[in-house]
Amino acid sequence: GTTDSVDSAAGPKSLDELVVGFAQVGAESGWRTANTTDIQTAFEDAGIELKFSDAQQKQENQIKAIRSYIQQGVDVIAFSPVVETGWDAVLNEAKAANIPVVLTDRAVDSQDDSLYVSFLGSDFIEEGKKAGEWVVEEYKDSTDPVKIIQLEGTTGAAPAIDRAEGFAEVTGADDKFEIVASQTGDFTRAGGKQVTEALLKSNPNVDLIYAHNDDMGLGAIEAIEAAGLKPGEDIKIVTVDAVKDGMQALADGKINFIVECSPLLGKQLVDIVKQVNDGETPEKRIITEETTFTQEQAIEALPDRQY
Ligand code: AHR
Repeated sequence: GTTDSVDSAAGPKSLDELVVGFAQVGAESGWRTANTTDIQTAFEDAGIELKFSDAQQKQENQIKAIRSYIQQGVDVIAFSPVVETGWDAVLNEAKAANIPVVLTDRAVDSQDDSLYVSFLGSDFIEEGKKAGEWVVEEYKDSTDPVKIIQLEGTTGAAPAIDRAEGFAEVTGADDKFEIVASQTGDFTRAGGKQVTEALLKSNPNVDLIYAHNDDMGLGAIEAIEAAGLKPGEDIKIVTVDAVKDGMQALADGKINFIVECSPLLGKQLVDIVKQVNDGETPEKRIITEETTFTQEQAIEALPDRQY
């Protein structure tokens, strides 16, 4: 028989025998920290051993971590790819070793979808569209051009590509929306601040900043205030994530709208691991449920916000 049938003939392992290797992107944002904590807690609660590595936003580190999990013969590998492309070689190595791979949070761009058993995470294009829809509504009565700065996430990362795409699709339907500058802030607060500082000098008349995550939006707030302007009023800000610091800024009127992206993927990842262990086939694509927040909704949600 095939190696596959040998494995399933061995039957499911007990949970305390299972070992999962998780290769995380890094610790670039409040979202990422919440995601790491949630995943570690869920595996602890389930009594499943989790090996964890932090790639510091570098694909080469992540590939090394995955190779080391293959070498250690873990039962399942899960990872959130730093960028979309360049995974086929290492994922084929995992496949050859008969180790199932689960994508969490971010997708890979590959022709071969047999390289992973399941992809659990948000629909980033939809998030970009929701941000764009708010902008369209906010400026519906304006006939003047609306000048927008976009703070992009990590170059080549699925959420950066897709959030730009969804936003452009919705705002692109009306010529008055002009993305006057678009640069990466690498999903960090420091990056958002630095890029905004520079871009405000070349685009002093900007109306709105669309940041691909809260942290870059929070960095933009610092840059706007340093320039003697009022974030949320002189320059409006729309972000994605809805982590506590972002929600506080929204409640304070410094951010105007946030599209939620949930980092709480731990329990669902544990479920997928259990299904794989039981020889079941998990859903190929599991989309996270998410909402959006206005200022009033943020004020209401803040006291119970988990992250
Ligand atoms: O992949 C999800 C994105 O990565 C989050 O929106 C961002 O904050 C994080 O760094």
